[in-house]
Amino acid sequence: MTRRGVLIGCGFFARNHMLAWRDLPDVTIVAVCDLDPAKAAAFSEEFGARAYGDAAQMLKEVRPDFADIATTVSSHRSLVELAAGHGCAVICQKPFAENLIDADAMVDACKHAGVELLIHENFRWQAPIRRIGELIDSGAIGQPQFLRLNFRHAFDIYANQPYLAQVEDLALSDVGLHLFDVARRLFGEVIRISCETQRLNPNVTGQDAFLAQMRHANGAVASVECSFFSHYAPDRFVQTLALVEGDEGSIELGDGYRLWVHRQGECLEEVVEPPVPSWGARPWNLVQDSVIAFQQHVLDVLAGRAKPQPSGADNLETLRLTFAAVQSARNGGRQVKLAASGEEPPSA
Ligand SMILES: NC(=O)c1ccc[n+]([C@@H]2O[C@H](COP(=O)([O-])OP(=O)(O)OC[C@H]3O[C@@H](n4cnc5c(N)ncnc54)[C@H](O)[C@@H]3O)[C@@H](O)[C@H]2O)c1
Repeated sequence: MTRRGVLIGCGFFARNHMLAWRDLPDVTIVAVCDLDPAKAAAFSEEFGARAYGDAAQMLKEVRPDFADIATTVSSHRSLVELAAGHGCAVICQKPFAENLIDADAMVDACKHAGVELLIHENFRWQAPIRRIGELIDSGAIGQPQFLRLNFRHAFDIYANQPYLAQVEDLALSDVGLHLFDVARRLFGEVIRISCETQRLNPNVTGQDAFLAQMRHANGAVASVECSFFSHYAPDRFVQTLALVEGDEGSIELGDGYRLWVHRQGECLEEVVEPPVPSWGARPWNLVQDSVIAFQQHVLDVLAGRAKPQPSGADNLETLRLTFAAVQSARNGGRQVKLAASGEEPPSA
């Protein structure tokens, strides 16, 4: 059975969505939509989908199986509610919502309509992160006790996404939530967090670096570090480096996709670089492959073969954690407790 999808938002990152959908079997993007007619027309011409300027009209006329929302965050709530109202499954890019009230409303709208809601959290679908998850789940390092995630580079992200230069909590809201989602995927819920932010690049408005320290419900601790103004040669963009320790072993994910598993007095090395898609290129292959993997997962969910990873309801907790980090940073790094700790969670 071929699934019929539509894409809403034909901007920078949506091109990865379209190229990945084109590579996957049993799915066709039949229509695309953008407020900017030139962008919709360009995607229509490249991918052979009908072009629209209005999402409501497109959904009404096309009646798709799913809507893939790749717009920026301020439009997410209205578009998710619109798509859910048309009874189709919904995929929404991160950040899922600007605040928890909107995120709750979006989860409710999809629940009420009886449709799936998946959030495009592709970091947890990156090949090295999937491999670390498999190793932890298989018990290779025993009980997890320490996690470090490190995403630090000085790549010019503002060239393709100029709007990022104006985002106040930039590092936390752009990549921080991906890293928090990965931490939750690997180590489970977080019960408290403290966070410091820095504004390093003088040419951007917001805080472009952060350092967060977290305690998980399982007793493990985590350090999540992110900077968009850290200078290395060669630059490490778009890799996340990681260190995971358990009571029986450790996993190191280093530069160049080298992964070491230390256990039983031995160290085994693997190279976990994903393939470069036919339409892709290094260093973007890490991201491009993760988009393909996530979108294949969406098809598995629609076919009833998998549960959403992550669902909107799950991603609400990642958002809650991200807002808790923002709250902590604005209060001089003071610790914030989360719902899983049994105390009142922060609101945003
Ligand atoms: N998962 C990742 O790795 C990753 C990477 C980059 C960007 N993103 C996310 O993707 C989203 C889009 O980012 P981008 O850089 O591609 O932005 P962009 O500005 O290049 O594209 C967004 C497009 O959406 C269109 N749009 C806005 N509101 C619309 C509406 N109501 N109907 C139809 N079209 C509408 C805009 O005209 C624009 O063309 C953001 O939320 C961003 O955080 C995710």
